[in-house]
Amino acid sequence: MAKSRTAKKGRRAVSTKSRRARASKAATSRSSRSARGKNGGAREDAIALLKADHREVERMFGEFERTRSDDRKRELAEQICAALRTHTTIEEEIFYPAFLEATEDKDLHHEAEIEHAGAKHLIGEIESAGPQDDHFEARVTVLQEMIKHHVKEEEQRGGMFAEAKSSDMDLLSLGQRMKERKLELMGESAEGLDERLPAQARHGGREVRTRFS
Ligand SMILES: [Fe+2]
Ligand SMILES: [Fe+2]
Repeated sequence: MAKSRTAKKGRRAVSTKSRRARASKAATSRSSRSARGKNGGAREDAIALLKADHREVERMFGEFERTRSDDRKRELAEQICAALRTHTTIEEEIFYPAFLEATEDKDLHHEAEIEHAGAKHLIGEIESAGPQDDHFEARVTVLQEMIKHHVKEEEQRGGMFAEAKSSDMDLLSLGQRMKERKLELMGESAEGLDERLPAQARHGGREVRTRFS
């Protein structure tokens, strides 16, 4: 019993020490958050980049709710699905693994992954069914609710972003990597969209950039 208490004490000492080391590294990382890139432009850290994505998707969901135009709803659903695919990919490929490595917080990490899987399943349904489907609007509305919940979990006090900020994650360099991957993915999705669009929609006339047309 005494032995196990001593062992626990030892583990606590190590974890306090490593927490202090993380906090000190995090302070260094925070102080360089406003660092400038080679071209003099401000470099965006990982959290700022992901939060900007969240706001953009919220804006599109808001417009989807308000518009009465079926064409606009189609465009917006297409854009929301593409933006969410890109966002979840950069989180899963770059941010989440770095978060897990730095914090070892499996609970938050795994929960976020499962929420992504649920959202991606619904995105797949929206993309394959299209607005002719009687449940089109219901699917987009449920997706909006799922994303609202997920974004709250990431951004709230004690959530993933807050924990990332107090860890030793290099948020500036992660932000740079995610920005590059995001541009790559957006290029791929624009190319794919171009191939899917009928020639008539690609050249001339009112161009409705949606696979749902
Ligand atoms: Fe996110
Ligand atoms: Fe996420």
